Formats: sequence, structure tokens, C-alpha cells
Amino acid sequence: MSLQPHGGVLVQSYLPKESFEDVQQEIPLDEIAVSDLELIAIGAYSPIDGFLTEADYKSVVETLRLESGCVWSIPITLPLDRDRAGSVKIGVKSRLVYKGETYGLIDVEDVYVPDKLKEALLVYGTDDEEHPGVKKLFQRGEVYIGGKVTLLKRLTKPFQKYTFDPDETRKLFQEKGWKTVVGFQTRNPVHRAHEYIQKTALETVDALFLNPLVGETKADDISAEIRMESYEVLLKSYYPDDRVFLGVFPAAMRYAGPKEAIFHALVRKNYGCTHFIVGRDHAGVGDYYGTYDAQKIFDQFSEEEIGIIPLCFEHSFYCKKCEGMATTKTCPHEKEHRVILSGTKVRGMLRRGEIPPSTFSRPEVIEVLIRGLKQETKQTL
Ligand code: ADX
Repeated sequence: MSLQPHGGVLVQSYLPKESFEDVQQEIPLDEIAVSDLELIAIGAYSPIDGFLTEADYKSVVETLRLESGCVWSIPITLPLDRDRAGSVKIGVKSRLVYKGETYGLIDVEDVYVPDKLKEALLVYGTDDEEHPGVKKLFQRGEVYIGGKVTLLKRLTKPFQKYTFDPDETRKLFQEKGWKTVVGFQTRNPVHRAHEYIQKTALETVDALFLNPLVGETKADDISAEIRMESYEVLLKSYYPDDRVFLGVFPAAMRYAGPKEAIFHALVRKNYGCTHFIVGRDHAGVGDYYGTYDAQKIFDQFSEEEIGIIPLCFEHSFYCKKCEGMATTKTCPHEKEHRVILSGTKVRGMLRRGEIPPSTFSRPEVIEVLIRGLKQETKQTL
């Protein structure tokens, strides 16, 4: 099986020694853009090597492909307020500045006004500003800057121990002798259903890359700090040490459902995965997407075009009659025997200090979540 990065070459543009003293023009970055800058430069978004120019942007939004024809589903853009954008000169190198510090350089190739309504409708499938991804899209600057980037400075990471670049994970997987690795995206604590689909996948591949997203998420999602602790306790007691690898994915969550599922899969391919888990309502929020839309979208492309195998799972749950985890594919019993709790409901229970059933989540994980959420509440009071 080929472990080629998407588009064939792993982008590497972290050049800490590059001088930037003479570069006058400055472009400010928001939290999403600074994380995208880093992810571009370390090759996580290969073959993308900069913020999208107008031609690539339009092509991604309208056709799910870069101009080169390479599949890509989420526009990686650098938005700027109209006032600031007015003074940005095309053809000039600029510093990319976050919180007063220079993190990178961009060769400004393009300054353009995107059609955000179109972007919302085509990428997110809705223009409803209640949708957290759409809300963010409209909150960000009205003008996009396109051009190739260089990363000069790494962000200080809260999860250093679990931070690996794609070239590192690729090497590590190879050293461990893993020929097939399944990637798992999550923005939640790992519950029984996650564990079930991960372990079912693990039965057929060499290893699992547990790759929680730790970039910006919506306010009511459980914080990455608490989640990381929950992953640690779970892995310690219930996962085989030599077949599971935990590393963070420092991107922002877009909640773009099917389009984000493709993006999540391509990025994990760049990290060296051969397979990728897509369960029910992957990267979804509310009821904007159909339960299996994020799986169906893969049918639009050939295996070669995607280059990573999606492992699709039906909605999984604990069935009291089966006395175990199952899905609608494997369980013949009626709904009333199934333990099905929504994420929102569970977050509500946890925040009230209530304990969800152990058939939903392992007690060790619940303990971490309740403790973490209590501390979080104290800090915000
Ligand atoms: S996501 O936004 O990162 O997709 P989440 O962390 O809840 O959210 O899901 C991680 C992965 O597990 C996704 O592929 C999702 O489709 C899958 N998943 C979550 N819950 C279930 C479930 N009960 N049954 C099957 N798949 C699930």
C-alpha cells in the first residue's frame, strides 16, 4: 500500500532561520489562520503550500478540487478586514503577525473579495448563522489574501508531548513496522461507541492513530485539556500500548460535515494513515447533515484520487439485550433496548455532576470529565 502524501510531495516550509527584518508589509492572523499557517508549513495540508488564491479558492468551493485537479474540500483562506486589506500590495512579501509576533511570511499573489454566501452554501450546506462554522466564516474578514507561505516560528503548544509533524508520524509508523494505520478524528472524549468502532477497525489494520482535534472548537464542546486527560486514562487501561499512537491535530473545527470528512481524511493521509474512520454524522453539528452524508461523499471520488481508505461505521450503541456494543447492522433488537445519548445531553449531565451510564462511557473517563468540568466552572465563576 502506498503511503504517498496527498498530491505526491509533503510540503515542508518551516524555515526558522529565514530573515524577515527587511520585510515591511504586515498582515495580522487570527487564531484559525495562525494554526492553518503552521499546518500548511509542516505539510499537514499537502499539496497546499499557501493560503488559497482566488482561482484555487473558487475551484475548491465549486468543484471540491484545487485548480490542479487534486481533491480538496475545505478552503484554507487568510481573511482580512476591508480597511487593512486596502493597503496590502500584490507581489510583495509580507510578515504574518499573530499577537504582535511574526510567525511567518507570505508572498502576496492575490487579494480578492470572496462570495461568502456561496462559500457558506456550498461548503457548509447552509447560510444559517446559527451554524458555528458559518457564523465564524461571516465573522472573519471580508477580503482574502492568497499566496505561498513560510513558517518562521512555531506556536507554543499546550500538548507538546503529543505534538508530531506529518514527517515525524510517517517515520514513526514506519519504524514501528506498521503497514496499515487507521486515523481517528475526534473533538469529544472517547465514549464506548468511539472505542467500539476504533477497536473494530483495529482488528483489521496494524495500528490506530488517535488524532484528536485540539484547535478552536465551539464554546460548549469539552475543552481539549480535559479531553486529553480522558484519552490518557482510557489508553492506559484499555488499549494495547504497541498498536495505538496518540497525537494531536492542532486545526480548528469547521463543523462542515461531509466536506470536512474529506478534508480530515486527506490530512490524516498526510500524517501517514492508510485508513480513516468515518462514523455517523462525522464533523456534524445540530441536524444540518444527514447521518451518513459524510460517508456518501467519498463515492464521488475514485480510490486513487482520495488515496486513503474510508472505514465507514453505522451508528453504534450499547444494546442491553445483546449485552454489548453493536450497530444497526449487527443488532436485531428494538430501540428501547439501546443506550443512545446525544453529546449535548451528556455534556449537560456532566456539567450538572450527573454520571452517565457506564454503558455509554467508561467510569474512568467520566471521572476525569466531571473533575475537569468542575474546575473549569470554578475558574469562570
Ligand atoms: S467529530 O466532529 O470529530 O466527527 P466526534 O468526536 O463525536 O465528532 O466523532 C468522532 C468520530 O466518531 C466520527 O467519525 C464520528 O462519525 C464517529 N462517531 C461518533 N459517535 C458515533 C456513534 N455513536 N456511532 C458511530 N460513529 C460515531
